[in-house]
Amino acid sequence: MRRAVCPGSFDPITNGHLDIIERASKLYDVVHVVVAINPSKQGMFSVAERIELIEETTAQCGNVVVEAHQGLLVDYCRERGIPAIIKGLRAVSDFDYELQMAQMNHGLTGVETLFVPTSPTYSFLSSSLVKEVASYGGDVSHLLPEPVHRRLLARIAERSAAGSA
Ligand code: PNS
Repeated sequence: MRRAVCPGSFDPITNGHLDIIERASKLYDVVHVVVAINPSKQGMFSVAERIELIEETTAQCGNVVVEAHQGLLVDYCRERGIPAIIKGLRAVSDFDYELQMAQMNHGLTGVETLFVPTSPTYSFLSSSLVKEVASYGGDVSHLLPEPVHRRLLARIAERSAAGSA
C-alpha cells in the first residue's frame, strides 16, 4: 500500500489544494490529507469544519483520508509508517521555506518530501488571499470548490452581522 501525506492549514481548502490532492491521489493508493492544528492561530473555520469541507470536496477521489493532527508532521507520518509528504509549489518564493521544512523533516525521521508544481491557474492562490478578497466583496467563486465558496460567504455574512449587532 503506497501512502503519502498532503499537509496544510486548509482554512479553507481551495482549488489549488484540491488540484494537488487529486494529482497525489492518482500517484498513491491512499492520500492522507492532514489538517495541522495550530492552537495559537484562530482560523476562519474550525478544524472540524475544515475536515468536513475537505471530505466533501475530495470524496470523488475515493482514496483520500482526512485527519487533524497536533504536533510534528513527522510524528504523524512515523506513527503510521507513511514515507512521503507531498507539497504543492506555487512559485519560486515558496521554495525557500518549503526546502527548509523538507530538509528538517528528512533530518528528523528520514521522511521524504515530493514537490508538485501547482497548475499555473492557481499559482497566485492562497487561502488567506481568498478570505481577504471575499471579505471585501470580491468574486472568488472560480477559486474555490462550490460548497467551500458557499460556506465562506455564509461565514463572512455571519461575522459582519455579529460585528454590526
Ligand atoms: O497550509 P500551510 O499553513 O502553509 O501548511 C504548513 C504546514 C501545516 C504544512 C506546516 O506548518 C507543518 O508541517 N506543521 C506541522 C508542525 C510541524 O511539523 N512543524 C515543523 C515543520 S519542519
